[in-house]
Amino acid sequence: MSTYTQELRATAKALVAKGKGILAIDESNGTCNKRFAQLSIPTTEENRRAYRELLLTTPKLSTYISGPILFDETIRQTTRNGKSFVQVITEADMIPGIKVDTGAKDLAARPGEKVTEGLDGLRDRIAEYYGMGARFAKWRGVITIGNGIPSQACIDVNAQALARYAALCQEGGLVPIVEPEVLIDGDHTLEQCYQVTDRTLHTVFGQLHDQGIAFDQMILKPSMVVAGKDCPQQPSVDEVAEATINCLRKNVPASVAGVAFLSGGQSAERSATHLNVMNARYAEICPWPVTFSYARAIQQPALEHWRGESQRVTEAQQRLLHRAKCNSAARLGEYSSEVERELALV
Ligand code: 13P
Repeated sequence: MSTYTQELRATAKALVAKGKGILAIDESNGTCNKRFAQLSIPTTEENRRAYRELLLTTPKLSTYISGPILFDETIRQTTRNGKSFVQVITEADMIPGIKVDTGAKDLAARPGEKVTEGLDGLRDRIAEYYGMGARFAKWRGVITIGNGIPSQACIDVNAQALARYAALCQEGGLVPIVEPEVLIDGDHTLEQCYQVTDRTLHTVFGQLHDQGIAFDQMILKPSMVVAGKDCPQQPSVDEVAEATINCLRKNVPASVAGVAFLSGGQSAERSATHLNVMNARYAEICPWPVTFSYARAIQQPALEHWRGESQRVTEAQQRLLHRAKCNSAARLGEYSSEVERELALV
């Protein structure tokens, strides 16, 4: 048992506690600026700070959110009044997390494919983040479906990096969130997505096993098994839920502490509906809690309402809390159109 075993187990369990999920607000500056620019919000450091303050200071957020994932810039920032965001999070009874990869870059000799970087110096960065109060981390590998891709080489290098990252995290006291995202971009079918997700999860768990990862001290953040967004034949909610659960049950060891999905470009309501059906229909046959770790599917309505204007903060926070509540209900299999409509009553 390592120094951190008990702490890692407790953190992992708390992150996927009943009725709770994870809030991803770890967009890199580039991604955050892109989302701001789409809404004509000036792409300044101060606006990124103000937006993260809005999100993190939302009253009652911890009723539904176990922990937010931050970006490096954000973990070093403070509220307008000078309180560090890490302190804001811990005082609200949530757990601070940190994205530690440095982004998906073009994979040499494999056109159209990516490999995620960030292993160099990672042991030292983990020690720094732990010292700042972070207790879990995230690394995202990206798998693209297209003509002749993904190659096994792309899946292998991403799986190997995910496992190296996870081992360093557990050594340094951070619960690793292992995120192999099969992208929704393209016109592939549900069946093709199933095959690629199956191959990816199989390879990732092979690497995690070979590199000595303690499964009860990690969380898997997968994409759902869906058809590509340009596929003319879109599956039903039930088909997505069934394919996703089948694929996970086939590949994810029972001792994994939890499964927390990304939303991956699905709409806010669709992400909640899929999660809800998975929990309502399949919770009894899943050995791990199944919850959310969404970014866009929780944040987008709040961001669209805020638009960089300070007088809209309170209403934007209500929208964030509403989406957090909807997904919390979905994590329990209790989401419905009534829960969805509640915001109108606020
Ligand atoms: P989305 O839910 O917007 O896909 O983001 C989740 C995430 O953290 C991607 O790395």
